[in-house]
Amino acid sequence: MLEVARIRGGNPIKGSLRASGSKNSALPILAAALLTHETVTLHNVPNLSDVRFMVEILKHQGAKIENPKKGTWTITAEEITHRTPYDLVRKMRASVCLLGALVGRLRQAEMALPGGCIIGIRPIDLHLKGLETLNCIVEVESGVIKVNAEQARGENVFMGGPMGSTVTGTANIIMAATLTPGLTRIESAALEPEISDLCSLLNKMGAKISGHGTPLITIEGVEKLHGCEHTIISDRIETGTYLVAAAITGGDLTVTHCNPQHLTAFLEKLKEVGVNIETSEDTIRAFGQPTQAVEIITEPYPGFPTDLQAQFMALQLKVPGRSTFTEKIYPSRFMHAAELQRMGAEIAIEGSTAAVYGDRPLSGAPVMASDLRASAALILAALAATGETWVQRLYHLDRGYEQFEERLRNLGADIERLPSSAMPKGFAEE
Ligand code: EPZ
Repeated sequence: MLEVARIRGGNPIKGSLRASGSKNSALPILAAALLTHETVTLHNVPNLSDVRFMVEILKHQGAKIENPKKGTWTITAEEITHRTPYDLVRKMRASVCLLGALVGRLRQAEMALPGGCIIGIRPIDLHLKGLETLNCIVEVESGVIKVNAEQARGENVFMGGPMGSTVTGTANIIMAATLTPGLTRIESAALEPEISDLCSLLNKMGAKISGHGTPLITIEGVEKLHGCEHTIISDRIETGTYLVAAAITGGDLTVTHCNPQHLTAFLEKLKEVGVNIETSEDTIRAFGQPTQAVEIITEPYPGFPTDLQAQFMALQLKVPGRSTFTEKIYPSRFMHAAELQRMGAEIAIEGSTAAVYGDRPLSGAPVMASDLRASAALILAALAATGETWVQRLYHLDRGYEQFEERLRNLGADIERLPSSAMPKGFAEE
């Protein structure tokens, strides 16, 4: 059943909220559990459709999975297959993380090429080049990747590409290298905190990895890995999204159980536009509305995260002057702009830069979510718009935000999740 969010804008977002576990850490870490036949226990796993889908894929591979309590999953991959079918891979790109785990554990993998998605073509050429550098035989025919790692050995692998490093590409090569004989050195490795979280899990499993969080990661191959227990880091993108909800409504929100150090570039930009930010070791407080226009360029970590670009664009709709957003990661990640214009925003797209002319009156309208972060941005804009906004295709939102509308309602928002049949006549998509 298709669901919509109905938002009536104007209420400030106030109070405190506990950050969830990181989606983009949980997904590669769930795949990494296939590297051992022993049980891996994970805590602070977010309850998201992408996570539930990854669990389904692991079950398809043959792993036994339990969910003893909220946020805790145990994975035991005793007997697993090296094949992952297209109908699973095409539904979630992040399933590409299985590649490194299957190559590491089984010395072979057979997986459909993941398709692109609405934010970009999203190739995986760097993943495959990295595996070939490890002396794997990689063949791609009729949309299926076949990897044979019988002769794989540790090598120097360069993971840089035209847009910087690749996050899941780095994760794949690390996972494959943990059980590949010899020393692997990954140069131009991704620096994201989710990569460091994966490496700390793998080291708990007996891997020998050092340098994570720097551009040079070294992995000394070992014979086998064992089970372990691990708590997933907090979700920096979810945290940033809620901080924008407070700033765009002139509210006052404290996010707890988060890591301010994972959001330095983003928090600097919030301060630059005039939002007040207070941090402690594991909390961030945002209060006061933005007053300054801004120039934002998305970059690989620790630069400004592409996953918070749409949300920040919504924020700047409230600010007089011209704010610009240049996408260095996904040059066409501006689907949200057209929908924000339906609410009265004035946005001009020139190549990979969007110029936002803020402080236009925002009025509620029926809008369409297109991808995970764009759907959050539309809801954020609706919180600050006059009147009623209907956001359709909420399934995009559920991929990366746990109980988003419920948690916003608990913080003062007038927001409700309804069946799309509840929309006024003529609003609902056919
Ligand atoms: C991860 O995707 C995240 N997903 C994305 O979050 C995030 O937007 C992205 O990193 C960038 O930060 C997960 O971690 C599950 P990349 P990933 O490989 O690993 C190009 C969200 O909203 N590239 O780092 O797929 C690519 O086209 C999602 O939670 C190649 O050219 O991203 C892009 O321009 C959306 N060849 C850039 O590199 C390759 O082989 C970064 O991609 C791989 C990537």
